[in-house]
Amino acid sequence: MSDPTRFDLDDRQRAMLAEMGVRVWWPQSPATTEAAPVAQPEPVAAVATSASVVPAPVSPAPVARPALATPVPAVPIKPLAEGVDRMDWAALQETAAACQACDLCAQRKKSVFGVGDPQAPWMVIGEAPGEEEDQAGEPFVGQSGQLLDNMLKAVGLSRKAQGEGGVYIANAIKCRLPGNHNPTPQELATCAPYLARQVALVQPKIILLMGRFAVQSVLQTTEPIGKLRGQVHSHQGVPVVVTYHPAYLLRNPADKAKAWADLVLALKTAQG
Ligand code: URA
Repeated sequence: MSDPTRFDLDDRQRAMLAEMGVRVWWPQSPATTEAAPVAQPEPVAAVATSASVVPAPVSPAPVARPALATPVPAVPIKPLAEGVDRMDWAALQETAAACQACDLCAQRKKSVFGVGDPQAPWMVIGEAPGEEEDQAGEPFVGQSGQLLDNMLKAVGLSRKAQGEGGVYIANAIKCRLPGNHNPTPQELATCAPYLARQVALVQPKIILLMGRFAVQSVLQTTEPIGKLRGQVHSHQGVPVVVTYHPAYLLRNPADKAKAWADLVLALKTAQG
């Protein structure tokens, strides 16, 4: 199989990698000019060094993992409408929009179900809508969303595309969290069946979890992202890759290089 860490990058993709803060290293020796460029993680050190000495990202091969440590605690929750686990797309979306199973419904303007091709090969899962998403009814439309779109473009994906280049984007929680509070275990557990059904209907080739609350909802563990990334996990039989949330990356740009390595691992895994 060809090495998916090596791409023929077009101008647009290089621009996107630049937007992510990931530099592209081009072989300098004429003897190696037939090789495709290799996207290199930016060194985490504060002062950038010569790109030519930056080591190539190593994408660990997918392996079966033992059960994760630190499972999320069981919490009492109110049941959702009957049959969520069997609903079709339209019924699921309508039910989520009318949901009153937790207090978040009281302040939402719109429930934010998801966006993109519901048959897409990639599914991206974030945390919860913020203020802008609550108004728009679409996930990731703010600053984090711009970074997410750029990250996806860097691997040839778009929320607007159908089929191969498509991606379906959803959140662990469908309603805005007032004051942007961290979701409680109850809020995550209450909303989880909607997400589980979305995954079952999309049947993606790969799930990319962004941030610790997406991880808690889907992988049911409180392990930190740093310990979970670089491996291929599994949910409903679908391979899962864990990465940082775009909002975290905006605050910690040095970790964009790790996010790029995570995208490459997801791409490699989706390609089988
Ligand atoms: N952050 C998320 O996790 N999801 C959104 O939809 C917006 C911001």
